[in-house]
Amino acid sequence: MEIVILPSPSDVARAAADEIALLVESQPTSVLGLATGSSPLGVYEELAMRAEAGTLDFSSTRAFALDEYLGIPADQPQSYAHVIESSVIRPLRMNPSFVQVPDGRAHDLEAACVRFESAIAAAGGVDLQILGIGANGHIGFNEPTSSFASRTRIKTLTPQTRADNARFFPSLDNVPTHCITQGLGTIMEARRIVLVAQGAAKANAISAAVEGPVSSICPASILQHHPRATLFVDEAAAAQLSLAGYYRYVNENKCAW
Ligand code: F6R
Repeated sequence: MEIVILPSPSDVARAAADEIALLVESQPTSVLGLATGSSPLGVYEELAMRAEAGTLDFSSTRAFALDEYLGIPADQPQSYAHVIESSVIRPLRMNPSFVQVPDGRAHDLEAACVRFESAIAAAGGVDLQILGIGANGHIGFNEPTSSFASRTRIKTLTPQTRADNARFFPSLDNVPTHCITQGLGTIMEARRIVLVAQGAAKANAISAAVEGPVSSICPASILQHHPRATLFVDEAAAAQLSLAGYYRYVNENKCAW
């Protein structure tokens, strides 16, 4: 894992956006994996500025969202389909038909999960997956004890995740109890992973993911097994990393070989 500690959330957003821009500039038909929630919003804003300035073109880029709540209509602001439309597709000027979000309203949810996996495979897999991290170490909505081999499926949200996400809903009672999420096995197949984390509320999860044992109790720890995972974290999110000084030293002394 590459750990990049940056002074502020806006530095995190810029650095992650630079990684995505590098890929899309060299390979405009790339396949992106999209996270929702607050963490990647600054990244999407950075990319939107570049798309608006005409320096970055997402019109042939395809994308798959990580997850979706069950039972929320796609036009409701809390649905991830709506969030992806308003914070990614429109601002980045993407072709809406090139972007897929798991269908949390499907009549046959299991079939929808299988279709979603097939669509990712048909697109040739994900080139770069953007991730946030839950305070409990989840990535996507793979809650603690999720199987490392898991594929897109229905999951039950933990009370902590529901409470953390209640800020997006009128009240805790309105937060869905279930979701569809790409599995950890699905996420690990992405060729490149860029995780962003900001704020003290993520410090514990970042420390467990980076320096803890690889264990399903902290699902993000599976990223230790990914060959190309970079974590961009601000100072507050890095606060519990015991080797923070070493990660800074590594980044300040990049080897040119
Ligand atoms: C959302 C997702 C989740 C979030 C995580 C952090 O698509 O995959 O793993 O990234 O819950 O959420 P925020 O960024 O709102 O703190």
